Amino acid sequence: MAKMNRYVCTECSASFAKWSGQCDACGAWNAIVEEAPLSTGPGKAALGAKRGSALSLSDLSTEEAPPPRTACAIEEFNRVLGGGLVPASATLVGGDPGIGKSTLLLQAAASFASRGLKTLYISGEEASAQIRMRAARLGLADAPVKLATATSMRDIVTTLEAENPGLVIIDSIQTMWADTVDSAPGSVSQVRATCHELTTFAKRKGTSVVLVGHVTKEGQIAGPRVVEHMVDTVLYFEGERGHQFRILRSVKNRFGPADEIGVFEMTGQGLSEVSNPSELFLAGRGSSSPGSVVFAGIEGTRPLLVELQALVAPTPHSQPRRAVVGWDSARLAMVLAVLEARCGIPFAGLDVYLNVAGGIKITEPAADLAVAAALLSAREDTSLAKDTAVFGEIGLSGALRPVSQTENRLKEAQKLGFTQAIVPKGGKPISAAGIGVQTFGDLSQCVGDLFGAG
Ligand code: TYD
Ligand code: MG
Repeated sequence: MAKMNRYVCTECSASFAKWSGQCDACGAWNAIVEEAPLSTGPGKAALGAKRGSALSLSDLSTEEAPPPRTACAIEEFNRVLGGGLVPASATLVGGDPGIGKSTLLLQAAASFASRGLKTLYISGEEASAQIRMRAARLGLADAPVKLATATSMRDIVTTLEAENPGLVIIDSIQTMWADTVDSAPGSVSQVRATCHELTTFAKRKGTSVVLVGHVTKEGQIAGPRVVEHMVDTVLYFEGERGHQFRILRSVKNRFGPADEIGVFEMTGQGLSEVSNPSELFLAGRGSSSPGSVVFAGIEGTRPLLVELQALVAPTPHSQPRRAVVGWDSARLAMVLAVLEARCGIPFAGLDVYLNVAGGIKITEPAADLAVAAALLSAREDTSLAKDTAVFGEIGLSGALRPVSQTENRLKEAQKLGFTQAIVPKGGKPISAAGIGVQTFGDLSQCVGDLFGAG
């Protein structure tokens, strides 16, 4: 039987018999790649024809101890993992080139190794001398980490079988190459095959495997999405160029909470932890100025205060500009539409710029009200009192909706010296000592009270 080549879309995993420039299923361009055929044919009995061995079944109530975790000295890293490394697990750390993945993982490796976990660091990107130089610069030269440079999966698996480490770091998955697959390193089938090899090794031997993954221009881990499904934990290391701090964010975690963040600062001596990120993000804030509003957010399980800055100016163009950094532009459009339709405040003919100070990205809808306040403050050229924190979700009707963890947000604000908060009405009764809370049921009432607009 002639082997049929299969072509798959790296965006949606649809498969085709022949290549084309655009995926018929999802419409993505240049996303279809060739994939090695599945091995079928003589010697492979149909599933029904040959009996396998019966599975041993268990009850849901079977008692199992929570996985024992190994923590390192980097608390922010432990937090994002859900309390530490779990044995027999695979973790993917993705991020832009040069963001600091290798630095972070070398520091973590050194810390785990110093605590007695047998640690291997395998790099396919840098020479051993380069890594040693970095270790010396980070003051980690004496850490008992074993180092190797390799790209051949066969050699790596042989080494791992012999060494049986507790933790192995593979930097990066796109440079690794398995000779069982006929395509170049970094291609979909190679990334999938090497990832499969490493995750099965992790499960078989009880090793924690950490894979470094590059991120494409579109912000996804290069290679198929299936890699994200194959591993237990997916962490993204993100940050803005020109800003010193970095955020490690868990987007998937089979052993702990997702959406948890760890905050680091890139210094001359590697990454240092930031244990109170709100202080860092509010640091450069001057006296209160129009367009500046502090949003009391929650990232993972931790409250985080950030400054939102808006600028509203008459546009010289026929089509006004809407530019957003650090927030969702569709969400900004929605807030603008609600301000126009429900509060009668037009933004036509005005350019609108919104920036989350410090370069952090916010995903919470709870920022809606703070964004609306920043926009109005900029438009009306009046500022909110400097010690006011704002949060709340805005519905399309203009109603303000209560958000989760109101008390944690208020507590964090109060800790940082805020004395007033503007929050949605409703939800659980709010008990907040030391902070004056103003509640509003809908947006037009809120903007009327605060800015005399609407
Ligand atoms: P790196 O860990 O190599 O990034 P990645 O593995 O994600 O590609 O980090 C590279 C950058 O970090 C580089 O631009 C220099 C900077 N850096 C510091 O600022 N301080 C340091 O102590 C180290 C080791 C790197
Ligand atoms: Mg690197």
